[in-house]
Amino acid sequence: MTAENPLPVDRQDSLGSEEFKAVFRRHPAGVAVVTCATPTGPAGFTATSVISVAANPAILAFSVSAGSTSRRVLDTAPSVVVNFLAVGQEDLARRFAVRGADRFAGLDYCSLTSGEPVLPGTTAWIRGIVEQRVPVGDSLLITVRAVLAHTSDASEPLVYLDRAFPRLLP
Ligand SMILES: Cc1cc2nc3c(=O)[nH]c(=O)nc-3n(C[C@H](O)[C@H](O)[C@H](O)COP(=O)(O)O)c2cc1C
Repeated sequence: MTAENPLPVDRQDSLGSEEFKAVFRRHPAGVAVVTCATPTGPAGFTATSVISVAANPAILAFSVSAGSTSRRVLDTAPSVVVNFLAVGQEDLARRFAVRGADRFAGLDYCSLTSGEPVLPGTTAWIRGIVEQRVPVGDSLLITVRAVLAHTSDASEPLVYLDRAFPRLLP
């Protein structure tokens, strides 16, 4: 295949999921924990899919797997906090990815007056209002209007690459 002579595009066609994932395993991503308040207590999950979408108004987005329990929570959550993890918070990233676990049990965290949990020691967090829930393939894409942010210059961000958490800086 060349740029001048691309393969014909079949709109129904898509890469196999393993081939697709193999590419993204080589693509470093920042690690966040998306949290929210629910009638039965705090909820949250680890996400590398967080992206900045627009600056004015400030919109971010993330995707959540349609089959996950997190998706059921996010179907109705009016607002979320995106906690951007720092180096040294690998345990938090793993904790918030364990299916079926009580992810907040014994955890040190605080809650905003609006109810969403905020994790300590992160590089930053953003509180936002959920605006759109768009089913995309086997996931749900959620857009969020950012309304409140806190940043800390103190720490280095946590990065995920090839199923590991390598240091960005020497
Ligand atoms: C580093 C890392 C990044 C992840 N990113 C996402 C993500 O962006 N979207 C997603 O749906 N799941 C992601 N997961 C998986 C979820 O954190 C979690 O394991 C999944 O939601 C299953 O748990 P649940 O059924 O309780 O929600 C990630 C896991 C890890 C370890």
